[in-house]
Amino acid sequence: MTIPLIKKSISSSVLLFVSLSVFCQNTPVKNPGNVTAVHIEQQKVSITTQNAQAEIIVYSPSIVRVRVDKKALLPDFSYAVINKPVVAKTSITQDAQSITITTDSVKTVVGKNPFGVSFYTKDGEAINEEEKGLQVSWVNEEVTTYRKMQNFEHFVGLGEKTGNLDRNGSGYTNWNSDVFGYRTDQDPLYSTIPFYIGLHDGLNYGIFMDNTWQSDFNFGASNNRFSSFGARGGELNYYFIYGKRVKNIIESYTWLTGRMQMPPLWSLGYQQNRYSYYPETEVYRIAQTLREKKIPADGITLDIHYMDRYLLFTWDKARFPDPKRMTSKLKDMGFRTTVIVDPGIKVEPGAAAWERGLKDSIFIKYPDGTNYTGQVWPGWCNFPDFTSAKGRNWWKNEVKFFADNGVSGIWNDMNEIATWGQKMPSNVIFDYDGKKAAHPEAHNVYGLEMIRSSYEGALQQYKERPFILTRSGYAGLQRYSAIWTGDNRSEEDHMLLGVRLINSLGLSGVPFTGMDIGGFSGNPSVALYTRWIQLGAFIPYFRNHTQVNTKSSEPWSFGEEVLEISRNYINLRYKLLPYLYSTFNEASENGMPVNRSLVFDFSDDPKIFDWQFQNQFLFGQAFLIAPFESSKDFGKIYFPAGNWYNLYTGNLEKGKQEKIIELSNQTLPVYVRESSIIPMQSLIQTTDEKPSDTLTIHIYNGERNNSFKYYEDDGKSFQYRNGDFYSRLISYSPSQKMITFDKVQGSYKSNFTKIHIILHGFSGANLKVNGKAASLKEESYSMLKAISSFDPQGAQYTGPVEGVIAFYTENLPDKFSINY
Ligand code: NOJ
Repeated sequence: MTIPLIKKSISSSVLLFVSLSVFCQNTPVKNPGNVTAVHIEQQKVSITTQNAQAEIIVYSPSIVRVRVDKKALLPDFSYAVINKPVVAKTSITQDAQSITITTDSVKTVVGKNPFGVSFYTKDGEAINEEEKGLQVSWVNEEVTTYRKMQNFEHFVGLGEKTGNLDRNGSGYTNWNSDVFGYRTDQDPLYSTIPFYIGLHDGLNYGIFMDNTWQSDFNFGASNNRFSSFGARGGELNYYFIYGKRVKNIIESYTWLTGRMQMPPLWSLGYQQNRYSYYPETEVYRIAQTLREKKIPADGITLDIHYMDRYLLFTWDKARFPDPKRMTSKLKDMGFRTTVIVDPGIKVEPGAAAWERGLKDSIFIKYPDGTNYTGQVWPGWCNFPDFTSAKGRNWWKNEVKFFADNGVSGIWNDMNEIATWGQKMPSNVIFDYDGKKAAHPEAHNVYGLEMIRSSYEGALQQYKERPFILTRSGYAGLQRYSAIWTGDNRSEEDHMLLGVRLINSLGLSGVPFTGMDIGGFSGNPSVALYTRWIQLGAFIPYFRNHTQVNTKSSEPWSFGEEVLEISRNYINLRYKLLPYLYSTFNEASENGMPVNRSLVFDFSDDPKIFDWQFQNQFLFGQAFLIAPFESSKDFGKIYFPAGNWYNLYTGNLEKGKQEKIIELSNQTLPVYVRESSIIPMQSLIQTTDEKPSDTLTIHIYNGERNNSFKYYEDDGKSFQYRNGDFYSRLISYSPSQKMITFDKVQGSYKSNFTKIHIILHGFSGANLKVNGKAASLKEESYSMLKAISSFDPQGAQYTGPVEGVIAFYTENLPDKFSINY
């Protein structure tokens, strides 16, 4: 009786096999097949498979690069990656089944039958694996790799992407797009950073796919098996990064793609903008009003109306008769001028810039050699080819126009490339640094190469650090520019989306980021404007901007109370500049974000991915910001591990706790992380003004070891690269009950001659400085007063007793410690 059953099962599996092999033969999905040859070098394996070529290269103990192409691999080239592999101890072994590449930190296993690449810890824990059965595959020219979905895997980053902090369940496309008034779930937006961080089982990794074609990332969207990433053309070329913490992954990613330079100090001040301020008397009115109303500010930005009929490298002389005089007057008032530039150069015989471009043949072209012409603000335009050295050099020389006119900042707009109609033809040819690429391959790097040209041009022309702002870009954009999130709307959910976009950019290697405070399109309610400008004080690039024909959006445009609240928070921003500038120094040294999604420090805590808490972030290492819609009366906060001090009241909140708080329009919920070290200065109206001689350092009692590298330099030049900076590490060790100020590094003379230390939550009873009892000035010190002249009703300091010690740096040894 059993025989027929066996027969039946054999015949059905034969049938299945026959149909599977027929399916595989006929499939439109092609894959590399099995490995047929292997060539091993010290840190590199070259692999031939039945249908493809591959290379695995160890870049560092924790970075492994994978290249796969169905044709021969092309000569190596990247607009994003600036580093070559470093020597790393690597062992490479193989047997019939696999090749194993082991470094001090990660084990890469390449399956041979069929070809597939997976990554493990040295102990064999799976970090990221090829999904069995689904090899790297091509559908026509589109190449994709499918990665097994791990247990409770979270995905963060991918640059300027809408959606949740945790991207699990979502899919994204990278194609730089001009998206005026985008929806809060729209994709793609303006820039492409094909880098994300995956987290599961306490393991963290990053993947950077360096491919400039339109690319797709699927984090388990519409499927329950895998995450995947791929591109519509070119080779599969990705870097796998393993790191113990999110921080280590960002550090490795920015080692590969570069870090920001120290920004000019003025660019961290408040920037006033609208589309557009003109004529020059209006610009003066704005500048003068900011000063009269005592709103600290450092920048005024001019939008497209400063140009003569939107012709690049011109001024509308009726509106701005003497730009040089205007920028210099503004400078005397403590304002730097930033102007907008678009890549489109109007086709107009006789127009100087166009004639020069034509003569030098720097425009992108159709295959028949004629210039591509598309429409933007000025009408029909040609576009410089920033992917050619010739085009970049041409632009760098043009940038002299701004330097000659006293302009300090260059704001690169419409560089996706944006053209009316949004359908630039595919047959437009770009030089792509000699390799020639059609539009689909070059599109996503056009913005990056434009800001590279603006940055390098400014370096050539200016004696100071340039400030460059961009709307579009590709991985590595942080080397040249700050980025803002384009044309948002004056709506509550846009404010919160902006926070997530900025946090995601920070996780993707870009620390200098902003959004239009108040919203670009539409008019914010009074409450929304108030909340947004409060938040702006905690955004790396703090710029108020609004569209043409919208209501005025300067801080005085919404009534006296809003003016006062705005001033308080802008004041706070200026007092915090020593803290912020030091945080930017960290960004420039190791790529750390300024605004840090909670995943940055608390990646093991699943609560932080909860949609209710996903907008919370840390501003630098110390401040926890909880942004809520201005329309809400109550908000729920999640305090991650540790203790948190209410910035305004000093009250302590325990970590790992949710709490409903009452919201007020007058204050943004801000908390200080225990053990924080926060240097502050006196209020100034512009960074041109010297603060008082005293640096105030707030230290908050806590159970966590912490350190903060305080950093100063001249804020303008590149002398810091030659050692002309002032930095000192301040460490706090609760177990030793000690705060240490390390020896000063660098040759720069600090702006401050006194240090005023404010201890929060310490008893003050046993204070000793360098072993000697310190006389503690019994002052009841209110942090509220320290940060603001405005006393929000009802907010009184009720926290632990504080001690204030005043130190004079002249009398202090170079290195000193405080015991308590
Ligand atoms: C689009 C930009 O996103 C916006 O900020 C600017 O005001 C307009 N272009 C006009 O230049």
